[in-house]
Amino acid sequence: MADRARVAILISGRGSNMAALIYAARADDCPYEIALVTGDKPDAPGLSLARAEGIDILRLDDKSLGATYWKALQEALDAARIDTIALAGFMRIIPTDFVARWAGRMVNIHPSLLPRHPGLRSHDAVLAAGETTTGATVHLVSDQVDSGAILGQVEVAVLPGDTADSLATRVLIAEHQLYPRILSEFVTRERDPDWIVAKVGGLALALPETRFKTSHGAPGWKVGSPSSDKFFAIMWLSHHGEESTAVLLKTSGQDEMAQLIAAEPDLYFRPAYYGPSDWIGLRLDRAGVGWDHVAEWLSRSWQTTAPPRLTRLLRVADEF
Ligand code: GAR
Repeated sequence: MADRARVAILISGRGSNMAALIYAARADDCPYEIALVTGDKPDAPGLSLARAEGIDILRLDDKSLGATYWKALQEALDAARIDTIALAGFMRIIPTDFVARWAGRMVNIHPSLLPRHPGLRSHDAVLAAGETTTGATVHLVSDQVDSGAILGQVEVAVLPGDTADSLATRVLIAEHQLYPRILSEFVTRERDPDWIVAKVGGLALALPETRFKTSHGAPGWKVGSPSSDKFFAIMWLSHHGEESTAVLLKTSGQDEMAQLIAAEPDLYFRPAYYGPSDWIGLRLDRAGVGWDHVAEWLSRSWQTTAPPRLTRLLRVADEF
């Protein structure tokens, strides 16, 4: 499969979930590839396994690196052009600035049905509470431990006589099934045109005095009063049999458009059938779309298009 999402797995120990992700990625139609395995313990057994399986690894030691550990990790992720981080038994508390940097692009697996039993010793907690069902959860990482939007769960029965160890063994089997499936769904949804339109719409409608309208059948967003509003963003979806998902935005003119397309031809294009207009296409059907970048572009296009009474307000606000 072309253009798979590049995933880094972070581990602290055994790495059996890591192995499940690696083996699932060997399927021809798997939408992700494991581009790097690293973590916080240079002697974690999972690192040797990943290396034996031909995956790039990096042995980082959080003890010797101290405060520079997170910087070294970020550099390794940048060098490997990582789109998504999958935590798999990574037992380190993650600083808020690192979480913010990877917001919406870092997932974790936890051995309970969250929000029940976060933190350590989840299986003991399940048994102590006398529960008859437990399971595993894959969720987005937020700055609270084992919280963040739930992406998928699987249930596991608690049997009479279960111990924390016997439960852990069965839940782990369920984890190995769940994690590759949910990670695949997660990296794929960013290629789903409906998901992309909803995401662009959320960003566009967060700008002042905007509304949704279609333009020749394509979803678009306008700014200004209803009698004189103008489009500042229009979706470009699978045009004339060519599979592509992009958003059209207003540039400052032909010179800027030519420069952008020459500098980054994989990212920008001149939309056919729009004639010599100032609309540029920004491709959104790539792995690891930078949504902050898209939000900046929408804001720029809004400013180019909005009536002066709205942009004046924005300029005044910027001065404070
Ligand atoms: C797994 O059970 C995972 O869910 C858990 O650690 C184990 C790692 O095993 N993670 C957490 O508890 C995170 N809060 P593994 O190294 O064999 O994948």
